[in-house]
Amino acid sequence: MSTPGSPVTLDLHDIQGNIVKAYSRYDYSHARYVLFEITDGQAGRGFIATLAERVTTSAPWGRGSTEERPESTLNVALTFAGLRMLGLPQASLLTFSPEFATGMRGRGAILGDDGPSGPERWDPVWRKPHRIHVLITINGVSRDAIETAYAFVTDITGRYRAGVRCLTGHRDPEGRNDMPYQAASAIEIDGKPTPKEHFGYTDGIGNPYFKGTGEHPENVLGGGKVTRRDATTRAGWEPLETGEFLLGYKDEAQEFPEAPMPPLLGRNGTYMVYRKLHQNVGSFNRYLDAVGTEYPGGKEALAAKFAGRWRNGAPVTTFPTEAEAEAFAQQWMAAKLKIQQTPKGPAREEAKAAFAQLNAKFVAFDYSKDLPGAGCPVGAHIRRTNPRGSLEFGEAFAFDTRGALTNRRRILRRGLPYGSVVDPQDDTGEHGIVFMALGANIRRQFEFVQQQWVNYGNDFRLGNDRDPIIGNHGTTPEGKGDGRMTIEAEPGGGRPPFLCGGMPRFVETRGGEYFFVPSITALRLIGEGMVDPT
Ligand code: HEM
Repeated sequence: MSTPGSPVTLDLHDIQGNIVKAYSRYDYSHARYVLFEITDGQAGRGFIATLAERVTTSAPWGRGSTEERPESTLNVALTFAGLRMLGLPQASLLTFSPEFATGMRGRGAILGDDGPSGPERWDPVWRKPHRIHVLITINGVSRDAIETAYAFVTDITGRYRAGVRCLTGHRDPEGRNDMPYQAASAIEIDGKPTPKEHFGYTDGIGNPYFKGTGEHPENVLGGGKVTRRDATTRAGWEPLETGEFLLGYKDEAQEFPEAPMPPLLGRNGTYMVYRKLHQNVGSFNRYLDAVGTEYPGGKEALAAKFAGRWRNGAPVTTFPTEAEAEAFAQQWMAAKLKIQQTPKGPAREEAKAAFAQLNAKFVAFDYSKDLPGAGCPVGAHIRRTNPRGSLEFGEAFAFDTRGALTNRRRILRRGLPYGSVVDPQDDTGEHGIVFMALGANIRRQFEFVQQQWVNYGNDFRLGNDRDPIIGNHGTTPEGKGDGRMTIEAEPGGGRPPFLCGGMPRFVETRGGEYFFVPSITALRLIGEGMVDPT
């Protein structure tokens, strides 16, 4: 039995690789996402059984492992309609979570998918939710690697064409509406992939770290949960419970998450939210240019307050000025270079340790010294989506740790940017993020964050303010955006609060669905038609 603090051993060969690894961190800078409809259960099961043998697992690769890092990865996810088409017994279907069964479109009111984010504006392929059954995600270290993996997928689709059809209807940058896949790739600068997104921020920094994925234990700093800071824990951080992200294990409440039956179907699997999010880059830049002239500190400081991080990724709560953030980035780069330039041996190990310490500053922080938001505004994007223990004010916590409320709302973020920005003053065109959020409970984790923390402000004592970057800001009768953000005052009579108003919607939904990411065992059971909940 797992008790708080006890280790968890995972069969990483049974868990799909995209759950444990953010592929973009492993140089997989290209991706292709392909959707399928199943029209015949038997052919569909053959398709799934074949895919199960090719799926990339979470088994470690590279240094210290017997597994080679593959050129491309392949992962499979299924919708509720897909599970039904694949012949899962009704008794088993009924045990999936209601929000998964309803699907993203049906949950639109909760997610704020209205106005320009409404389903009628989505890519054609996402407008027929009951036809979307299977999602295959391919990540590759190069475009060639993607093509090779895609050729494999096309080949097996052909083999099972009696009952499996690739769905067309993704938009592409050339204005076509009928693409058979969604392409995504890291934004390149000087021909090299970067972790940037289209508003210019460094992305993919913060991600949860949970028990059983011990490949990189240093990820507990900032990735785990904030503890009571007693002497027995590592710098105040420990891994989150596995059951927050994987079905079949205890979660932060020391309970097993609701999971589909039979247990073998759910165990080592999880749920995934896929959202194609368009970025109105022109509106974002124009807003920053205009309001940045009034904001003390200027446009870059304003951009940093929106996100909670400077565009180079440095957290504003730790590095309050642009000069400090820049100096940190320089130090970080020098420390990285030093590792490359130091010959193997104790000196290299020392250089690595120094770099690791600096690197931790990107993530190993909380807001305990910044509760009123003078450094990082309470309504900034990263503080809303991961308040890191700042929801419990004062020292007398209701729960065991300051972050107990936040620890139940963490999400694993995956995905990559898509398209490119041709004119930075223009909103039109195809550019945004394919956002994926994984977690054991879509309702408690992703939907709660999206509804209560992104599109509402009450938990932060911010009334109806929404997330400045991704909030579903509306339009006033005068045609201006109605989004607002409060940038809190400096304590002790310093800088007064600054109020941003008239924000238009910077991010719009262009499609998406809720998926189940089965374990390899579950894929095989489904493929063989052997799911039996009795
Ligand atoms: C186009 C849409 C989006 C953009 C441009 C965006 C941008 C960013 C940026 C720049 C960061 C900071 C880098 C990092 O910590 O990794 C970040 C972090 C984060 N975002 Fe977003 N984001 C988007 C959508 C979303 C959505 C839809 C959610 C969830 C509802 C979300 C949840 C998070 C979380 C949980 C973090 C990490 C916070 C932390 O651990 O400190 N983001 N995002």
